[in-house]
Amino acid sequence: MRSTRRWWIVLGGFTLVYLGNVCLAVGADNESTIEVNATQVTEESKQQQQHLCCARHEKMIDVGYGMSDQVIQVDAGHCRRLCPRHAVDDPGDASRPAVQRCPLDWHCRPNSARLERISTLQGVRVIEAVDSCDCTPKQACSREPYTYVVYPGTPHQADIDVGLCMGHCSKGLGCKPMRNRTISIVGPNGDEVHQVIEECGCSDNCYRMTHVETVLDFSEVEIKDGSNSTEVKPLVRAIDVGQCIGSCPGKEKETCLLRDKKDPTRCLAGLYSKQHYCTPARFKIHEYRSRRGAMREIIAITQCACV
Ligand SMILES: *[C@@H]1O[C@H](CO)[C@@H](O)[C@H](O)[C@H]1NC(C)=O
Ligand SMILES: *[C@@H]1O[C@H](CO)[C@@H](O)[C@H](O)[C@H]1NC(C)=O
Ligand SMILES: *[C@@H]1O[C@H](CO)[C@@H](O)[C@H](O)[C@H]1NC(C)=O
Repeated sequence: MRSTRRWWIVLGGFTLVYLGNVCLAVGADNESTIEVNATQVTEESKQQQQHLCCARHEKMIDVGYGMSDQVIQVDAGHCRRLCPRHAVDDPGDASRPAVQRCPLDWHCRPNSARLERISTLQGVRVIEAVDSCDCTPKQACSREPYTYVVYPGTPHQADIDVGLCMGHCSKGLGCKPMRNRTISIVGPNGDEVHQVIEECGCSDNCYRMTHVETVLDFSEVEIKDGSNSTEVKPLVRAIDVGQCIGSCPGKEKETCLLRDKKDPTRCLAGLYSKQHYCTPARFKIHEYRSRRGAMREIIAITQCACV
C-alpha cells in the first residue's frame, strides 16, 4: 500500500511539473490500485494527464455593511481548472459532481448562478454567485446555456436560462450578445423583467445589436369612403431598428471651448472627456402608412461607431 502511494506521488509530482500549474486528481487512489503493476500505472496516469479538473472555487467579495458595521462578505465563486483540496458533492444531485473532469483543451465555465439577495445597511444588493461549473469544448462563438436561479430559497424561486456568449472569434473581436429577449417572472413586488441572450456573434467593443419595433402599415390597403374600417387588414411590419451597445476605448478627448482668434489651432480653454461614445453612425429609413393615411418613417441604425 505504502509503496503504491509513493509511486503515485512520484508520478503526480512528475505530471505537475510537466503540465505547469495544473493539478491532477491523483490523490484519489483506492484499494484497486494496490495490486496494479507498473504498466497499468503508466496507462492510468496517461489518462489522467488528458483530463483536468473543472470546479467551483471560493471567491469572497465585500457586499456592504451590516447592522453592527461589520463588512458583509459573500462567496461569489468562480470556475477554475484546478482540483480543489476539499470537494463535497451535492448528495441530492448525483448528476452534478462538484468536480468535473475536462479533456485538456476544453473550457471550464460557469453553468449556473444564484442571484443572492443580500440585505445590507445600503439596501438589498443582488450578487451573482456562481453555483456550478462545467466543461465546454473549444468552439466558435456561440450561445451556451447559463442558468440564473432568481430568488433562491424563497417562494419566488425560479430558474431562467439567460445564456452566455462564449467561443472563438478572429483577432480583435469578442463573442457578444447580438439579440436579446426579455422574459418576466413573478417576484414579491410583481412582474420582473430579465434580459435573456438569444443569439451571439463576433464583434467589436462598440457594435449594433438587434432591437425590433413593430408597426401597422396601412399602405397596402385602400380605404374607401363608407367601407367598414374593422374589416381593413393592415400589414404588421417588424422592423429591426437596432441599438448601439458597448464601450469605446477611453482615449482622452479634448473639446475646445475657447480658441485663440489669431491662431485657431491653439486652444485657450478646453474640456477634457475620457470617453468616446458608442453611437449610431449609419441609418436606413423605413416608410409606412398610418391608419389615418399619413406617411410615417422609422429610422433604423445600420452601423455603430465610436464618436
Ligand atoms: C501488467 O499489466 C498489463 C496490463 O494489464 C499486462 O498486460 C501485463 O502482463 C502485466 N504485467 C505483469 C508483470 O503482471
Ligand atoms: C442581454 O442579456 C444579457 C444576459 O442577461 C445581459 O447581460 C446583457 O446586458 C443584455 N444586453 C442588453 C443590451 O440588454
Ligand atoms: C363592421 O364589421 C364588423 C365585423 O365584420 C361587424 O360586426 C360590424 O357590425 C360592421 N359595422 C358596420 C358599420 O358595418
